[in-house]
Order: sequence, then structure tokens, then C-alpha cells
Amino acid sequence: MKILVTGGTGYIGSHTVVELLTEGHEVTILDNLSNSDERVVDRIEAITKVRPGFVNGDIRDKETLDRIFTDTAYDAVIHFAGLKAVGESVQKPLMYYENNIAGTLNLLKSMGENGCKNIIFSSSATVYGTPAFVPITEECPKGTCTNPYGWTKSMIEQIMTDLYISDNEWNVVLLRYFNPIGAHESGTIGENPNGIPNNLMPYVTQVAVGRLKELGVFGNDYNTHDGTGVRDYIHVVDLAIGHVKALSKLQAGSGLSIYNLGTGQGYSVLDIVKNFEEATGVKIPYVIKPRRPGDIDECYADPSKAEKELGWKAERGIREMCADSWRWQKNNPNGYDD
Ligand code: NAD
Ligand code: UD1
Repeated sequence: MKILVTGGTGYIGSHTVVELLTEGHEVTILDNLSNSDERVVDRIEAITKVRPGFVNGDIRDKETLDRIFTDTAYDAVIHFAGLKAVGESVQKPLMYYENNIAGTLNLLKSMGENGCKNIIFSSSATVYGTPAFVPITEECPKGTCTNPYGWTKSMIEQIMTDLYISDNEWNVVLLRYFNPIGAHESGTIGENPNGIPNNLMPYVTQVAVGRLKELGVFGNDYNTHDGTGVRDYIHVVDLAIGHVKALSKLQAGSGLSIYNLGTGQGYSVLDIVKNFEEATGVKIPYVIKPRRPGDIDECYADPSKAEKELGWKAERGIREMCADSWRWQKNNPNGYDD
């Protein structure tokens, strides 16, 4: 299939492009490089021996989108492009609504006008808010998001649902990711956050490589087995493969569908520290800090719907996730800067 991947030089996008090319799909990336690096395209080529197309452009620019869709008849779009820093979204809500929502509206308009009505969207477990129950099934009601980033995901899901209701020619797959970590086993592509990381695993790897002194563990009085927050960490390569499986579903004309992409297994912050140390032999000093506002006790998926309907199941365990995150960080202490 001919696939347009928005945000394809980013963390999850780059791993997905590798899996798509490996399966023989033709891929063009559209990315404005606001949170990624064009050198990712070289690294994807080095892994797969195929160079994806690359357009340096913005989903808010309708002319660029129209040109892309008139030049090539894409079979589907995988839509990763978006801003994702939770704290920044609280400081700059309009920037987030503009980039994520207005950008997605442009993309959907251009797709519809040019006859490409198949889309996979990167949603998040954040749409469940404080989950009504765990493990979380897709039937779990959506909740109140604690930040504008989360609301953009929830609203885009609604926009795509309404679009499908208005025109059944659309095929929409909403993928709700749990907590992606890890990196490609080659250690050549991985997560490359700007500044001090907000998320747990990049913080841990930067402590391990000596860029940061110690990990702050946000709260040890949660209602969990050791008091620290529990999440469903999923290897980014498993997540990427989930997109390839979802494409077959789209191709079959599936209408609107929603899947949780997680492992079904929850790990606490201290479980992650312990597994990282055991997988890599590197000690992670940590201190207990106050809770981070907006955090919840525990969040993990029931991923059985994706297994049943997509034939997809996460295969990589927590040790492999830690080892692969570490290989990427160790080989690239400054990300894509040499
Ligand atoms: P990322 O920042 O690494 O990738 C996003 C990419 O989109 C970047 O390369 C960025 O340059 C590009 N981009 C942003 N705005 C754009 C615009 N207006 N036009 C064109 N390109 C633009 O993030 P990621 O971790 O790979 O996440 C990919 C998607 O998955 C995002 O939509 C994110 O919200 C979603 N998601 C991520 C997580 C996670 O934990 N990483 C969890 C749930 C959902
Ligand atoms: C966060 C976002 C979520 C987003 C996801 C991926 C919030 C409330 N949620 O999820 O919307 O989709 O990132 O970008 O921000 N932790 C520490 N010390 C750290 C960092 C994290 O103890 O330095 C703990 C957290 O308290 C949490 C766990 O580690 O218990 C995971 O945190 P994180 O990686 O930020 O992911 P989420 O909070 O699950």
C-alpha cells in the first residue's frame, strides 16, 4: 500500500516507518521537524535498505497537503503529527489546539477532497482520564482529561467519529497507546526528548548515561503494590507492528474501530528502576518526591480486543524494553547530534 505517515520522523512514527517498509509498503513521511531530526530518514534507510519519501511540511498548511494528495494516490494515512508535552500544553493551550486540532482538520479535509478516506490515528490512554476500572477495555467510558494535550486526543477522536457517521466511506482506526518505551534493536533510532525529559524512561536513561544526577520518584503513597504509580509500558516496536496490523483492517473496510495498544501488564516506577538495573547492570540513584499533579494510581490495558480482531499482541517484555532504551541512549548520548 502507499502510505502517508504524518510525524514519521518522530519517536513512534520512525519505528512504524521501519515496520511498514519491512513489510513492503511504500511510505512518504510528512513532518515539520518541530520535534525531530531529518537525519532519522538516513537511519531508517540504513535499517531497512529502503529510503522513504520525505516532505518537510506542516499539517496546518493546506496547500502542502493538497499538493501531496494530488501528486500521489495514497491508500491510507497514519497520523502521528502532533505536539505531546503535557506540561507545555497547560502553559500554551492555544498552541496545542491550533497544532493538533486545526492541523488534523486540515488533514481530514484534504484527504476527503482527494478521495483518500482511510486513516489511523495516534490516540492515548489519557482519554480515559482517571479510569473507571482496570484493566481498561475500550468500553471504559472516556474521562475528564487533566490537560489540553489530553483534550486534543479526546476531541480528535470525536471529530473522526463524527466524520465517519456523516460519511461511511471513511475507515478510521483509533489506537489508544499506553506508555511506549524502548527503541529499535539496532540502537540507531529512539526517543529524543528536548530538554529535561518529563517521561519516566528517558529520565532513567539520562540518569544512567550521567546527564542527570538522580531520578525523582513522584510519590510513594499511591494505592499500588509498592506505593509508586503503575503504568502499562509497551515496547515501541510492538506498538509500531500494531499499526501495520491495523492497516490490514483498514484495507478490509472496517468502518470505525478503536483499540487499546498495551501489554496488559502494569509495572510501578520502582519495578522499572529494578528491571532497568537488572537488564543493564547500571545503578539508578533515586529520591522520593511529592506526587506530580494530575497523576493517577494505576493505568493498564485489557489488550484482548486487538488480539482478537487485529491478530496483534505485544511480544517484548520489560527487560527487553529497558535494554533497548539503554542501547539507544548509550550509543547516542546526545540524540541525533553527533
Ligand atoms: P514525537 O514528538 O516524537 O513525534 C511527533 C512528530 O510530529 C514530530 O516528529 C514532530 O516534528 C511532528 N509534528 C508536530 N507537529 C507537526 C505539524 N504541525 N506538522 C507536521 N509535523 C508535525 O512524538 P511521538 O512520541 O512519536 O508521538 C507520536 C504521536 O503519538 C503523537 O500524536 C502523540 O501525541 C501520540 N502519543 C504518544 C505517546 C507517547 O508516550 N510517546 C502516547 C500516546 C500518544
Ligand atoms: C504521561 C501523560 C500522558 C501522555 C504520556 C506520554 C500525564 C498526567 N500524563 O503519562 O498524557 O500520553 O505521558 O507522553 O502527564 N515518574 C516519576 N518520575 C519521573 C517521571 C515519571 O516518578 O521523573 C512516574 C509518574 O509519576 C508515573 C510514571 O512514572 O507514575 C510514568 O510517568 P510518565 O512516563 O510521565 O507517563 P504518564 O504519566 O503515564
